[in-house]
Amino acid sequence: MFHLNLPVRTLVILGICQFGRRGLASAPEVRDQPKKIAIVGAGIGGTAAAYFLRQEFGAGVKIDVFEAGAVGGRLATESIAGGEYETGGSVIHPLNLHMKHFVDKLGLNPRKDVPSKLAIFDGKELMFEESDWFIVNILKLIWRYGLNFLRMYIWVEGILDKFMRIYQYQQFGYAFSSVDRLLHAMGGDAFLTLANQTLEEAMMGEGFSQSFLNDIVAPVARVNYGQSVRINGFVGAVSLAGADAGLWAVDGGNKRVCSGLLYHTKAELIKARVTAIAVKHRPSKMGNSVNLYEVSYVSESGSAHSLYDIVILATPLHQGLSDISFVGFSPPLPSHFPGRYQQTVTTLVHGLLNVSFLGSSADPAHFLFSDILTTEHKPLAINSLSSLDPVSIPADYARPPASRPAVWKVFSAQPLTQEQLAAMFLRWDAVSERRWLAYPAYSPPHRATPPFQLHERLYYLSGVEWAASAMEMSAISARNLALLAHHCWHGHTAKVDQEDLHTRLRGEL
Ligand SMILES: Cc1cc2nc3c(=O)[nH]c(=O)nc-3n(C[C@H](O)[C@H](O)[C@H](O)COP(=O)(O)OP(=O)(O)OC[C@H]3O[C@@H](n4cnc5c(N)ncnc54)[C@H](O)[C@@H]3O)c2cc1C
Ligand SMILES: *[C@@H]1O[C@H](CO)[C@@H](O)[C@H](O)[C@H]1NC(C)=O
Ligand SMILES: *[C@@H]1O[C@H](CO)[C@@H](O)[C@H](O)[C@H]1NC(C)=O
Repeated sequence: MFHLNLPVRTLVILGICQFGRRGLASAPEVRDQPKKIAIVGAGIGGTAAAYFLRQEFGAGVKIDVFEAGAVGGRLATESIAGGEYETGGSVIHPLNLHMKHFVDKLGLNPRKDVPSKLAIFDGKELMFEESDWFIVNILKLIWRYGLNFLRMYIWVEGILDKFMRIYQYQQFGYAFSSVDRLLHAMGGDAFLTLANQTLEEAMMGEGFSQSFLNDIVAPVARVNYGQSVRINGFVGAVSLAGADAGLWAVDGGNKRVCSGLLYHTKAELIKARVTAIAVKHRPSKMGNSVNLYEVSYVSESGSAHSLYDIVILATPLHQGLSDISFVGFSPPLPSHFPGRYQQTVTTLVHGLLNVSFLGSSADPAHFLFSDILTTEHKPLAINSLSSLDPVSIPADYARPPASRPAVWKVFSAQPLTQEQLAAMFLRWDAVSERRWLAYPAYSPPHRATPPFQLHERLYYLSGVEWAASAMEMSAISARNLALLAHHCWHGHTAKVDQEDLHTRLRGEL
């Protein structure tokens, strides 16, 4: 059973959708559907938005997706040594329900699992080596860190439990007008505090030890976000969940989800760079004025522009990532929001690892670690080093030991020099480098995240990355925007920014 809104809350909500109401003065109960929707960006965020918008608005609306680069965005693969390998977003958590749904819906498969083995390098030696024996690992960890490890697991599970609430809210059609409200709906004030603290503060506050943070938590933050335990606690928890068991990837490459969603949605892909978005006032049949958005873009065949009812920006509005001018908005909208994205360089190397670089005296033929994380104990040029499996696993596949040439993936903040490569590899025959402006440079306390709605029917998907950047976060944001756009179009304000959903929906599923 749902309660009615408190008057104050209603006012706040009206503030959000009111433009839409004023703009469309025809009979409010049977509003026309929008005719054209533009999405800027064909990464997982933009293509998921196309999918969910199609779900909300039906087959009649034309959906155009603009992409300046390659479909997939930060989900991308590279060919090296005769195989194809992920260079961007690579692993998906077993509880990322939207990603799971897409893969099922599109008839894709999870990639065959290859067991992995982890080690942690402190700049001198491997200070932790995972054993094939579960019980040995547990004993090692208890010996060194007491119950910190078990407690971390419980702490992350507790956060994940709350995180999972979003799926129920979205299934019931609820949307949120800002990232902070979305976080609050999931985990109350505790989630906002988490996002406004460093991971270190949050975990120290929970009683975790400094050595556990340095030895275990920091390496995970380094491999996942190229940053330290000073990232915000929320993205930190997401990152630690990314060290859970059962992580998976899409067979054939994660970016296949993006092209699959475009195809499934019957959206039109326009290979062009959007340069400007302008508000245009058009008189409506009813005599008042309607706002439309004029999207200007440049493609190989020149520049053009087109009018849309709704526009979704599914790319970060930050320096180096997109450069869109907003024309005629009042108050004005900046091309770039505050905060910066940080570089992570992915280097794929096909070659022979020098295990002595890792201070290991093991016989390379028995060196089988697939993931080597690093600590901050000594300044290191690399954030992590992994033996990479191809996007499709052949039937007879076994990951090669370090004595045989393999494809290694190195994450670093700066491009690797020849000297740095020579220190890590005995020899190599192929190198491929990809420089990403990968994710926000997180430094809490966090400033207010940008709203999901920038103007009456202009929505911004990527602000969610300031809470945490991950494929699933973009997908959650996409679903939220589709619901928000639908509710605002139809004036269903009671489905926006509701409080206490968790209590109210209890028992509904
Ligand atoms: C190295 C690396 C490792 C990662 N590892 C993981 C991981 O293991 N698991 C995980 O969940 N996440 C991971 N991530 C994060 C994840 O990849 C991203 O959060 C996610 O892919 C973002 O998707 P998006 O669609 O929101 O943005 P993007 O993928 O960045 O898509 C935006 C698109 O918009 C396009 N665009 C920009 N401006 C314009 C314009 N003006 N006109 C037209 N098009 C434009 C861009 O070309 C781009 O394709 C990783 C990221 C990186 C870089
Ligand atoms: C391998 O690494 C070790 C330790 O850094 C170094 O002393 C050695 O010279 C390297 N071997 C080769 C062949 O480069
Ligand atoms: C974040 O924390 C700072 C203090 O560190 C505080 O001033 C600020 O109000 C907090 N912001 C939010 C959104 O909670």
